[in-house]
This record gives sequence, structure tokens and C-alpha cells, in this order.
Amino acid sequence: MRIAMIGGGYVGLVSGACFAEFGSDVAIVERDPKKLAALRDGRIPIYEPGLDAIVSKNVETGRLTFGDDLATAVNGADAVFIAVGTPTRRGDGHADLTYVYAATKEIALAAKNGLLVVTKSTVPVGTGREVARILKETRPDLTFDVASNPEFLREGNAIGDFMRPDRVIIGIDTSGPDEGERATRIMREVYRPIHLIEAPIVITDLETAELTKYAANAFLAMKVTFINEMADLCEKVGGNIHDVARGMGLDQRIGQRFLHAGPGYGGSCFPKDTRALTAIARDAGAPSRLVEATVEVNENRKSRMAERIIAQAGGSIQGKTVGVLGLTFKPDTDDMREAASLPILTHLHEAGALIQAFDPEGMEPARELLPTDITYCSDALEAATDADILVVLTEWNVFRAIDPERLRNAMRGNAIADLRNIWSPDTMRAAGFDYSSIGRR
Ligand code: UDX
Repeated sequence: MRIAMIGGGYVGLVSGACFAEFGSDVAIVERDPKKLAALRDGRIPIYEPGLDAIVSKNVETGRLTFGDDLATAVNGADAVFIAVGTPTRRGDGHADLTYVYAATKEIALAAKNGLLVVTKSTVPVGTGREVARILKETRPDLTFDVASNPEFLREGNAIGDFMRPDRVIIGIDTSGPDEGERATRIMREVYRPIHLIEAPIVITDLETAELTKYAANAFLAMKVTFINEMADLCEKVGGNIHDVARGMGLDQRIGQRFLHAGPGYGGSCFPKDTRALTAIARDAGAPSRLVEATVEVNENRKSRMAERIIAQAGGSIQGKTVGVLGLTFKPDTDDMREAASLPILTHLHEAGALIQAFDPEGMEPARELLPTDITYCSDALEAATDADILVVLTEWNVFRAIDPERLRNAMRGNAIADLRNIWSPDTMRAAGFDYSSIGRR
């Protein structure tokens, strides 16, 4: 199969490289000259474990190429995947589809008959139909198919998620003369190696596929938010959130995963997709109160976390040194989008804290987003040096291995706010810390 992937961002790059690994010829079209130059030079602009190896291997075999010429890539393709950004639109929370529709028009102008156009970006229900309408309007002569194939890639684990997915969701427009048969055949061929590992492939209609993506992400965001609320309750009434989560999660109807309490979810997907789903549901006249509450509870949680740190520091953080471990929205990524660290550290900064932080991958992007006078350190111990209070914001594995004695000796004060529960309360208290964590006494 020959695939054109429109957009060499996170989703386009991972999906394109993995489709090449599955055996297709993939041309990634990237219009940002800086990103394109980096990719052509063999430099991967994002931190994603395992991605460079797959990219360089498939570039060497010639199955994966990068360019900015959409028309040539599309003209030579059996299927074109749209993987451009769909940020939150200002004002109403809907996803901004400007890039999706602009790409669709360009695709229409370059397409050959029989092209399959697939949306890979997360798009609102109805976008697939609109893509079909734009294709028809721009090129009334063209025969084409439209499909929706949402991604379920976790940052830091994207290659594994792509290669060994829990499922693949494919929505096909069946209104054409062959009822989507050809499109189904192409999609099955593109995902052929997935059949070998027997992951289920759910074939459905366009709207269902589009909605499934939002429903899955909103449900997971709700699950995290639920366990965060239970953690708050544990703190009030006594109880250990780890045991509550384990006890709940062992019920197979609930499941163990996504029950780790923390400072509130962030990242490029959950905040954007939950907001978009509430907007879609509201407009459709079927508002989702649960998802609306999830969004609100999660946003409030981040400012509550800052207040909790200030309380632990004795009620005022003015002029105090705060050591920070972790900035990214989760470990194994350099992504700072909607990271809990942004509102929390901005709040502490406004309250007069002197902040010194370390993150293994996120410090470069953080510099652009956080107040300018934050000090960035070269390791965790440096961030803890002379700190009055130490705050853990991301659960990077390197932090778990830190020797509590050395930490204690480095710090001026003895307060730790571990918002990711990476250490054991008993160990830290035995080492002399005033240690607080989430949902554990
Ligand atoms: C998510 C989805 O998991 C993935 O399927 C998708 O399509 C894209 O969005 P990602 O944003 O990479 O992936 O991160 P994920 O691992 O899902 O974590 C999201 C946020 O929830 C992070 O801020 C994380 O810290 C938080 N989280 C997750 C918790 O606080 N507790 C948990 O138990 C799980």
C-alpha cells in the first residue's frame, strides 16, 4: 500500500513510521520548514521512546520519506491519512478544524480516482461527512472513499500502543456504490500485521468511530478524576487510596489501570477532548453532565494543589525556596501541554516562591511556558538543594531511586509534597521528612 500522511506531528510521525514498519510505503507531508529539516536530517523533534529506531530503519529501506509536496504524495497514494492538529477553538471549546478542511481541499485537487481519505486526527462527530462533502464540492468528477481511524496512542508508549493495540477502530462511509467494500479492504491491508496478533478491529460507520474516540478519552479522564476525588475523601475520613484503587480495580468490570491518584490529568488529549465532547454534546441537545463535571473538577484541582503546598509550607510561600521534581504532564515525554506544573508553579510564583526545578526531558519547552525567573537544575538533588519544600509533580522513574538521606541533607527544610505518590510515607517519615502525598495518611 502507498500511504500519504498529512502532518508530521506526534500522531502523523508515529503512525507514519509504524505503517512503514508494517510494510506500506509512507510519504509524510510536513509544512513546517524547521520540523521538516529536522526529520530529513534524521532528528526526531519529539521525545518518544523507540521512535527514532523505527524512523531511521524505515528511512534507510526507503519505505518512509518526508517532504512538503502534498500534491505529489497524494497523487501517488492509495490512502491518505489526515493527521494535522485540531486544537481547542477559542471561545466555545470546540475543536478547530481549519487545518483538517484546508488539507482536504488540497487533497481533493491532487487526488486520483479511487483514493481513500482517512481522518486520523481526533475530530468531532460529523467531520468525516464534511470531508466527503468538501471532496465532492472541490472535485465533482472524483471517485473516492472516506474513513475515520482515530488513534489511541499514549505518549511515552506510542509505539507499543500502535504495534500491539487493544483494538483498532475503523469507521467507513458506506453510502457509496460498493458500500465501503474497497475502503474496508484497504484499511484491513494497511493494518494487516495487527490481524496476526489478533487485536480486534472494530469496523463501523463514520460517526460511531468519531464518537468512540471521544467517549474513550472522556471515560478515562473521568476515571482519573473519580480516583482523585476518592483520594481527597481518604484524606478526610482516613483510608489509603492505593488500597482503595486496588480493591476497586480487581473487580474486572472496573479494571486496575487509570486509578492512580495525582494532581489532575493533563496532556494534549484529555483536556482538549473532554472540552470538545462537552461542546458537541451541548450543541446536540444531549449535554454530558458527567464530562462537564470532570472538566471542572480537574481544573479546580490544580489550583487546590498549589494551595495545599502553600499550607504545608506553613501558610505562606513568600520568599521560600521550592524544589520541583518533574514538569511534564506525565513521565517519558517532553510534552508540557496542559501539564499540572503550569498552573501550580504559576500560582506558587505569584505567591512569592523562589522556584528551582528539574525534569529529565521537559525543561526546554517549560522555559517558554513558565515564569522566566524559574531556575532550571541539572539533576534532582540540585533542585532539592537548600529547598524549604520539595514538590513532586511528575513520576519519572529516576526520582523513585533517590536516596532519602541525601535528599534530606541537601534540603534546608524537611517538607515534601509528593503529588504523585512515588515514595512510601513510612520511609520518608523515618528519614525525617514532613511528608504529604495524595490520599494516604
Ligand atoms: C491519552 C490516552 O490514554 C490515549 O489513548 C489517547 O488517545 C491520547 O490521550 P496521553 O495523553 O499520552 O494519552 O496520556 P495518558 O497516559 O492517558 O495520561 C493522561 C493524563 O492522565 C496524564 O496527565 C496522567 O498523569 C494522568 N493520569 C493517568 C493520572 O493522573 N492517573 C492515572 O491513573 C492515569
